Amino acid sequence: VVVAPGGENVVICSGFAHGVEVLSRALRAAGASTVAVEEYGHPGHRDIITRQGLGAPLLPLDGRGACVGAAGEADAVVLTPAHQFPLGMTLAPDRRRSFAEWDGIVIEDDYDGEFRYDRQPVGAMQALAPDRVIYAGTASKTLAPGLRLAWLVVPPSLLDGVTACLSGGPSALDQLTLAEFVTSGAYDRQIRRARLAYRHRRDRLISALDPIGLRVGGIAAGLHVVVDLPAVADEHRAVARAEQRGLALSGLSWYDLARSGARAGLVIGYARPPEHAYTTAIARLCAVLGS
Ligand SMILES: Cc1ncc(COP(=O)(O)O)c(C=O)c1O
Repeated sequence: VVVAPGGENVVICSGFAHGVEVLSRALRAAGASTVAVEEYGHPGHRDIITRQGLGAPLLPLDGRGACVGAAGEADAVVLTPAHQFPLGMTLAPDRRRSFAEWDGIVIEDDYDGEFRYDRQPVGAMQALAPDRVIYAGTASKTLAPGLRLAWLVVPPSLLDGVTACLSGGPSALDQLTLAEFVTSGAYDRQIRRARLAYRHRRDRLISALDPIGLRVGGIAAGLHVVVDLPAVADEHRAVARAEQRGLALSGLSWYDLARSGARAGLVIGYARPPEHAYTTAIARLCAVLGS
């Protein structure tokens, strides 16, 4: 646990996935039985919650994000308010306020908040209710997912429960290296550089997709966009054709935790291809989608 200059308690963990595990254990030990998650999201995070013996009901989403009314009797929720994962909307201001005023615990997963292209980064929800919102950041998008470094800003009332459930975690050497990177200003410089580079990649991708005429969403932030397709069969066909051309694409249905099939599409990450392969990757993608 590190105490930040503002007095916040920061618990360092091995990626957000480890953080979800620790928080699930702590919430369960404190008597919680359910942690709600957004109906489109990372299936691995929901699995971690249920493996700890908690229920994980789904929060429906519309164009303004999740709605607190749907949280029902849940003890806690995991939200991606700045940039819903994977659909890409920002949680509407009135809904942020409602979640902040809600009785349960909010786990604010700010996985890519550093990469906002249309405005200043969205402020953390944690500032609205520092006693009940656990803010989670990660180095997985800003540096590399393989580092397994993330941080939780934990309200004082939950700190003992969380630290009692904390096992494992990144090596002291990795933590000290990140601390040096942050305090020297190099981390900020890396984010500014990366933001420009990713913005440029995003713009190239959007311009290339434009003539194909498919709806491209979630473009205002992050490292991925969502391309809607007419039906799940088109999605499967696109993923298979892309694979034949050496492109690994994710279908939106993989993130559809309700298995509703309500939307079909592709979640296209633009950070992964090395620079020298990006032009070819876009050309192959357009060939797949154009056909
Ligand atoms: C929704 C979401 N949250 C958080 C993360 C970061 O996870 P981790 O820090 O475990 O790499 C990711 C990474 O893919 C993600 O998709």
